[in-house]
Amino acid sequence: MRILAIETSCDETAISIIEADEFKPGALIRVLSNVVLSQVAKHAEYGGVFPSLAVREHSKSLVPVLKKSLEEAGMLHLEPNAQNSPSTSLRIPRNSRDKFEILNSILEREQILREQFLAFVPGVRKPDIDAVAVTSGPGLEPTLWVGINFAKALATIWDLPIIPVNHMEGHLLSALLEKGVEKNFEFRISNLEFPALALLISGGHTELVLIHDWLKYEIVGQTKDDAVGEAFDKAARMMGLPYPGGPAISRLAKSYTPKAKSISLPRPMIDSGDFNFSFSGLKTAVLYRLKEFPEITEELRCEMSHEFEEAATEVLVKKTLAAAEHYGTKTILVGGGVSANDRIKEVLIEESAIQNPEVRVLYAPRELTGDNALMIAVAAWVRHSLTGEKAIQPLDSISANGNIRLS
Ligand code: KG4
Ligand code: ZN
Repeated sequence: MRILAIETSCDETAISIIEADEFKPGALIRVLSNVVLSQVAKHAEYGGVFPSLAVREHSKSLVPVLKKSLEEAGMLHLEPNAQNSPSTSLRIPRNSRDKFEILNSILEREQILREQFLAFVPGVRKPDIDAVAVTSGPGLEPTLWVGINFAKALATIWDLPIIPVNHMEGHLLSALLEKGVEKNFEFRISNLEFPALALLISGGHTELVLIHDWLKYEIVGQTKDDAVGEAFDKAARMMGLPYPGGPAISRLAKSYTPKAKSISLPRPMIDSGDFNFSFSGLKTAVLYRLKEFPEITEELRCEMSHEFEEAATEVLVKKTLAAAEHYGTKTILVGGGVSANDRIKEVLIEESAIQNPEVRVLYAPRELTGDNALMIAVAAWVRHSLTGEKAIQPLDSISANGNIRLS
């Protein structure tokens, strides 16, 4: 099966094409292309994701990203008359005019995207793929809609089914990807002993998910306010560090040399006895501590970053290991943008080995920790292999759901 997947839930425009046999543990996934265009630099001046800018950028980028993705996969073949026919309507065969009407109405709200789509896609020979997958949530609804409408337009013109995907399922399953023999082009999907536990940490989510079986999830802990990535981003902004704050804080924390300690931040809810989190108080504590100093020096930033990272790490690790013990899980999966953090990884692996050496801690490959469409393709493939036609939804019923949860 070959799947082309689209991801636009936040500030990365991504399209990936994978090829795989039926899903089973150990099955091989061949990555035909994996293109990610990040808008991070564009949002940096606003100190966070600016939704209307993100919508515009996705609209502008989807067709170029599709072109690159098809090219990488060796699937970009222009129709013979496409090069010398500048007018869009000329490229659409007469008997496909009703398709043209449908495309126009699907893309009616995405002006730039519609123009680019009609100027490019009808001139491309239908690629050899079996389904289009698209992130339908959670995320920013206006940006999710751009990806969904693009998926619907592609599915219409190429007569393909659509598999809607939960973005968090993508992050979760990417922790099961092991590099194959052909590094970067192949991944093997690991086996999973149930129940397993996933720690999903990103800019919008902080969740502990109990996995009862393939595709059967129960959220057993979550943040009551800010997500951990959001707290990293906000704390960084308070210190005058660029967006995204996670990598910036992590870099500074590494350069801190311990001294007689002066700054200490709280470890919110660390002894709450449940598996929930709270990061808003930690972020506010940073604000108050910073006010105690006449100016924010580089030294202060390093020390604050170090203490912030330690506080976040302690809470995440303690709760995750408590949940793993409580539910008797033998595997912990870690995914989402914040899983790129070295300190959290180091402490979680160390402490887990001390608590129970039998527990395996699996991380998403580093290059797949942030948002990408490869994980969306993988989630679509697993779902389609295990549930068949149920994974496919009629075009009209697919809509964006910013708050959809794993269940
Ligand atoms: O999964 P992701 O790319 O997008 C969402 O779905 O939210 O996660 C983005 C988040 C941002 O908050 C970013 O600051 C954080 O991941 N992040 C990190 C690191 N790298 C990215 N946080 C801590 N340490 C890092 N090294
Ligand atoms: Zn994400």
